[in-house]
Amino acid sequence: MRKHIVAGNWKMNLNADESQALIEALKTKKLSSDVRVAIATPAVHLAAAVNLTSGTKIDVSAQNMHQATSGAYTGEISASMLKSIGVNTTLLGHSERRAYFHETDALLAEKVNTALENGMEIIFCFGEELDERKSGSHFDVVSSQLRNALFNFDASQWSQIVLAYEPVWAIGTGETASPAQAQEMHAHIRSVLTAQYDDALAQSVSILYGGSVKPANAQEIFAQPDVDGGLIGGASLNADDFAAIVNAF
Ligand code: PGA
Repeated sequence: MRKHIVAGNWKMNLNADESQALIEALKTKKLSSDVRVAIATPAVHLAAAVNLTSGTKIDVSAQNMHQATSGAYTGEISASMLKSIGVNTTLLGHSERRAYFHETDALLAEKVNTALENGMEIIFCFGEELDERKSGSHFDVVSSQLRNALFNFDASQWSQIVLAYEPVWAIGTGETASPAQAQEMHAHIRSVLTAQYDDALAQSVSILYGGSVKPANAQEIFAQPDVDGGLIGGASLNADDFAAIVNAF
C-alpha cells in the first residue's frame, strides 16, 4: 500500500549547530502518525542526525550517493558508507544534481541499481524544465526520465522506490504547480507505470510532489488523489513550517 510521506531536502544549508537545533525543534512538534517523515541533511550531518532522531518517527536520508561501491572517487560517498551509519534512504536525481553536476538518466540508472543492490530506499526525483512545460512536452519528458532511469528494474524492486515529481520551474521559485497540474502529472506517472508494469504496481508506488510547497498550499496539493506527499526544500528549514506541512494531510 502506498504511504503518505513528507521529506525535507535541506540542500547545502545549515552548519552543525543549526542542524542540531532544527532537529531538536522538530522533535518538539506533534507529527501526524499517518505520515512518514524524513529529512535529507547534508552528508556531513548525517551521522549526527541519525543519533539525534533515534527513537523518533523522523528518518534520515542522504541527498546523493555514488554509483560505485568503493574506490578512487575522491569526495564521494558510497551506499555501504551510508548504511554503516544507519542511513537507509537517499534522494537521487534531484534537478540540481542534474543541472549542476551533469547527472544523466544513464548515470542515475547506475546509481539506482547500486542503491537497490545495497538494500537502500530511493526517493527518485525528476520533472520538466519551464521551456518543456511551455512547449507542451512535459508528459513525454517525464515519461522518458522514468523509462531511462527506472524501467530496467523488476517490479519486486519497486518496493524500494519512491517517486518525487518536481517541475524544475517550481523549485525554489515560489511558483507552485497548481493542485490540478500536480494531479494531472501524477495521474500520468501512474498510467506510465501501469503500461510498463501493471496497475497493482502503479497503485503501490508513493508519488511525492515537490516545488515551493509551503504550509499555505500543502493541504490543497496533498488532497489530490494521486499525490502521496511532498519533497520540501526551503520550508523544511523551519520546524514550524515543516511540521505544518507534515500535518497538512
Ligand atoms: P523548494 O525545493 O521546496 O524550495 O521549492 C524543493 C526541492 O528542491 O526538493
